[in-house]
Amino acid sequence: MPDPRVPRRRRYLVCEPRHFDVQYAINPWMRPDAPVDTGLAQAQWRALVESYESHGHTVETVAPVPGLPDMVFAANSALVVEGRVFGSLFHAPERRPESLPYETWFKGAGFEVHHPESVCEGEGDLVPAGRWILAGTGFRTTREAHREAQEHFGMPVVSLTLVDPYFYHLDTALFVLDDGAQGGDGNIAYYPEAFSPGSREVLARLYPRAVRATREDAMAFGLNSVSDGKHVFIAPEATGLADRLAGLGYVPVPVDLSEFHKAGGGIKCCTQEIREIRS
Ligand code: ARG
Repeated sequence: MPDPRVPRRRRYLVCEPRHFDVQYAINPWMRPDAPVDTGLAQAQWRALVESYESHGHTVETVAPVPGLPDMVFAANSALVVEGRVFGSLFHAPERRPESLPYETWFKGAGFEVHHPESVCEGEGDLVPAGRWILAGTGFRTTREAHREAQEHFGMPVVSLTLVDPYFYHLDTALFVLDDGAQGGDGNIAYYPEAFSPGSREVLARLYPRAVRATREDAMAFGLNSVSDGKHVFIAPEATGLADRLAGLGYVPVPVDLSEFHKAGGGIKCCTQEIREIRS
């Protein structure tokens, strides 16, 4: 029988999809000619927030800005570890104005914000995994930003190269199941084929017990999940992955964000985790 999993209460920052839409194409999922059902998107997003709250997590919101349809993807705005905020510098000019309203929110909440010097899309590509930070590059965040993040946080940053345009952010191909805070090395789930051969080998060395997902689960946004150490908020179509996680003692909590998949985002993309210093 697997060990009982222990959840930890989290603080999440999200942005209401009031102005969400697909108006430009900066990844292969986006089709500006395919309509988004904005009412459905709002309902799906509210169900995500309610699900976090009913599992004991704190959810805070940043006010959406008209004309910034991707601002709902809060994960991209920053990486916050031990109360240090590493802000964003978006690759696409269309998304660059998003950094400022998030920065204003962080400052208002009492945080200082570091401005990255090169392209960096927050938790989309920088994924804290306990003692180190896993960092994606290839489509958006640069290696220079990885080095800058290592210097900023004083934590080892492990650079991983993404090779499949459908998995353009690290958080579309990998998520942290357990960050090792309760002891042990932690664990992740990922889709190996999204990574270069060398990066696959790195992941296999760091995480010999990792859950390797299929392309089907990855294309269903199954790896764009959020785990609190026990509950895994996951796309309902990623059934194979959810079954395997259940077999390991995790509790899959299905949350359908299908309208957001049209923009290339899912549950994790809509969620920024604010990690403060652990007392
Ligand atoms: N349309 C957005 C983009 O391409 C989606 C961002 C999804 N966010 C994420 N963390 N993967 O930038």
